[in-house]
Amino acid sequence: MDLFSDDFRRNPYPLYERMRTAQPPLYEPRTDFWMIFDYAGVKRALTDHSAFASDMSAANQRAPSWMIFFDPPRHTKLRALISRAFTPGIVANLEPRIRQLSRELLYPVLDRGEMDFAADFAVPLPLKVIAELIGIPAADWPRFRHWSDVILTLSYTVSGAAAGAEAGLAFRATTLEMAEYLPAILEDRRRAPKDDLLTNLVHAEVDGARLTADEIVAFVQLLLVAGNETTTNLLNNTLLCLMENPDQLARLRAEPGLLPSAIEESLRHSSPLQFMFRAMRQDVELHGQTIPAGKRVLAMIGSANRDPLQFPDPDRYDIARDPNPHIAFGHGIHFCLGAPLSRLEARVAFTEFLNLVGTFGRTSNEPWKPRKALHVLGPENLPICFKPV
Ligand code: HEM
Repeated sequence: MDLFSDDFRRNPYPLYERMRTAQPPLYEPRTDFWMIFDYAGVKRALTDHSAFASDMSAANQRAPSWMIFFDPPRHTKLRALISRAFTPGIVANLEPRIRQLSRELLYPVLDRGEMDFAADFAVPLPLKVIAELIGIPAADWPRFRHWSDVILTLSYTVSGAAAGAEAGLAFRATTLEMAEYLPAILEDRRRAPKDDLLTNLVHAEVDGARLTADEIVAFVQLLLVAGNETTTNLLNNTLLCLMENPDQLARLRAEPGLLPSAIEESLRHSSPLQFMFRAMRQDVELHGQTIPAGKRVLAMIGSANRDPLQFPDPDRYDIARDPNPHIAFGHGIHFCLGAPLSRLEARVAFTEFLNLVGTFGRTSNEPWKPRKALHVLGPENLPICFKPV
């Protein structure tokens, strides 16, 4: 089993199915990871933070100082503060801007009748939306794009590899650059508040506590890595699902009200984030096997979302699936803070795309190349041809 081969990463589902049928969690000696494949087991790993820690030091592994790698009580305090700033309101206000950005990306390619859906649309849209949300001045967007790329290279290698050490060095350099860049903007927002996330972050307060500049830098880094690549894959994978299931595309055209439910089904069927890490704080018995304390675990979200015990006919892409209790955004105390934003982006992006584009299809039937980040599912490029409506 080569977990990182292109073939596996393009279609991990047959192997997931074999692993779920075999039931026990799997120990993978090459990476020294334990992997959990079934819905109940993955949900437990995501939720039971007393045994399955997010703080990777429980397995002797270093991780960036991001809330996603914190456990209570540190996580509880930070999440409360961040939630004051990252409100549903601030996300909902972005809708007109997301629509405008989607059109700005789609209009220039319409006459060509072809585009790389990934490079022309699914990559730049989330990046621009996040820069806008955070409140980065447009002139500094290229710098943010660069930082975002550097941070993402952390996920291009398995930990321990030489390239991983190099990515770690580049990441530390980026952290220093961001720590130099942000305080001036934060000071500006303190003096002259704007309608953006940085303003909310400097003013957020719970029981007299405020976020420090380092905590804000760390959160902005997490947003860049958690929010961009994942949403890109949600957009790409939704398009792939619709192209591979023409009956579902026809139904969506006939019943556009099903779009939110189609997006949920893409999240389940082709989960953008395939796994999350945990570190064992204590021995845990799962399906008759003991995962020892001190070991690292991969909670295989992509596999859990195809578990037939939870989802009837799990390999079918059904845009009207109901109920659909997928765990693509996680579960429990770390449930994705950006879920409302990526749902909104996907809804607006596909409303615009389907309004502007008539028939469409891939330009080639060659298997697509997986993206470089190892924790996601989706294509690096997605060339399509189409007829405008
Ligand atoms: C389709 C898009 C996305 C997917 C599939 C996704 C998935 C996830 C998952 C599975 C977790 C839980 C991690 C865990 O339990 O350890 C998570 C957490 C998180 N996500 Fe997302 N995410 C997406 C988009 C976004 C966006 C757009 C943002 C921000 C703008 C974001 C910000 C975060 C943050 C800050 C956390 C950490 C929450 C915490 O530790 O309490 N995500 N995401």
